[in-house]
Order: sequence, then C-alpha cells, then structure tokens
Amino acid sequence: MANGLGRDVVERALEGAWGHPLNAFELVGSTNTFALQWADEGAPEGALVVTDHQTGGRGRRGRAWVSEPGAALQFSLVLRPKVAVQRVPLVTTIAGVACAEGIESACGVPTCIKWPNDITAHGRKLAGILVEGRFPAASAPTVVVGIGINTGWAKGVPQEIAERATSIAAEMDAPAPPRAALLARVVKRLEERYRALDDDAALRDLLESASERSEVLGREVEVHFVDGTSLSGRADRLLESGALVIASGDSERAVESGELQHLRAR
Ligand code: BTN
Repeated sequence: MANGLGRDVVERALEGAWGHPLNAFELVGSTNTFALQWADEGAPEGALVVTDHQTGGRGRRGRAWVSEPGAALQFSLVLRPKVAVQRVPLVTTIAGVACAEGIESACGVPTCIKWPNDITAHGRKLAGILVEGRFPAASAPTVVVGIGINTGWAKGVPQEIAERATSIAAEMDAPAPPRAALLARVVKRLEERYRALDDDAALRDLLESASERSEVLGREVEVHFVDGTSLSGRADRLLESGALVIASGDSERAVESGELQHLRAR
C-alpha cells in the first residue's frame, strides 16, 4: 500500500494496546461504516480500521469527506465506553484533543481545535472527526471515532479549497512523516485521553487542554443548528460534557453540537 499503511507496517508502528484487532484496507467505502458494522458483529474496544483510500468517506452533517489516494490518513476506532450515556458526548472532546496532540507530537505542527472537533492549523482545516454512536436500551453504548487527517496532496493543497484547508506537508513545508507513525501517535493519545471518561483529574486536564487549544473561546461566533436555527454570542467556556457555552447579553446557553462560524476575524 502506498506510503506504508499495510497491516504489517501499522502493527509494527502501534504504540499502545489499542489498534487490535486491525483491518487495513487499500480501498474501502468508509472506515466509519465498516467499523460500525464490525462493532455490531462484536469488534472489541480498540479495534481499528485504516485505509489508504475511501470511495464514500463521510463527514459531519451528512457531508462527503473527499480525499485522493495517499493524501490523507483515514481511520476509525471502535470504543465501548463503560459510562452513563450522558457522558458519551465527551468522546468528541477526547478525540479532538488527542488528534491535535498526536499531530503536534508526530509532526511538530502547532494545532488548534475549532469546536466541536475540526483540527486547524493557522485557521485552516487540517483534520476532521466524525463520532458516531449506537445506544441500545439493553446494553452498553458503542462509539466509532473516525478521523481524517490531510497529510499532503501530490500537487499541494487543491486551489479550490486552499483558503479553508491545509495539510501536514503544507504546514511543514516538507513531506509529511509516514502515515503509520502518525496513526500510532494519535491512537496512543486517544487511549491516554480516554481516561477522562472516568477519572476526574484526567477530565480536568482534558478540558484545560481543549480550552487552551480552542480556536473559538473568547470570540464572537454564530452557531448553526441542524434544524436551521442559529445562535450568536461569545464562545465563553467548555462544560464537563464537552458542550460549549455561548454568552449573549445576560443569557447563556450550552450547546451540544452545531456548525460554528466566526463573526469577526482575529
Ligand atoms: C468532518 O470534517 O466533517 C468529519 C470528517 C471525518 C472523516 C473521517 S475519514 C475516516 C472516517 N471515515 C469516514 O467515512 N469519515 C471519517
């Protein structure tokens, strides 16, 4: 597989307990779709699906996630959080912080988080995260965390998205490190940050890191909700659930999800 995402290379690179069992594809529709199906069939926590290329990559809000072969690191992890269902949304914050930290430690590229979970560098999108869950009444939840990181397009960042998107290679002004090494680092950070689900000190540390890396806190924003409504105000703080508090005049509202737009450039 181009730039080493074959099973042997990935297995050698993995640094922690997660990543086993492993499915490594050259081509798959969507690693998230595959992982959800695999989870339904019993895949355990830490099971990993990685691919060189997706034909039907999915983004948030039903959007497509499009990449070209070899230009992105795309993978999904199966998680089975043993916590109350209300705590599960925190997985989104965990994934955002872990992805930002993993990229930074593997590539030296400074990263921010645009709530809820886009990873940015110099204000441009470097990675996207799609967290999907199944919440059966009679058993524990299953969560799939899917991450797509733009490592580098063969001809540089495509002109039509260059204002909004960037890649690791563009930020480094050099070829990105091997994708297997980056994958291993992000998965390891996810495993470590996952402790925030049931450890108060780890949760405090997670929220501190998410706040420090936030591209939105303190700024005037507009949040667009799936039902077509929106809310404007100052992005004030993150709650323990990962929700974002928007302050406007004397009122505050905690938002769990939405599409965020900055109202003023920095
Ligand atoms: C977004 O920015 O809207 C989220 C993009 C998530 C893309 C990743 S790539 C690996 C995994 N498989 C998918 O189909 N989507 C996620």
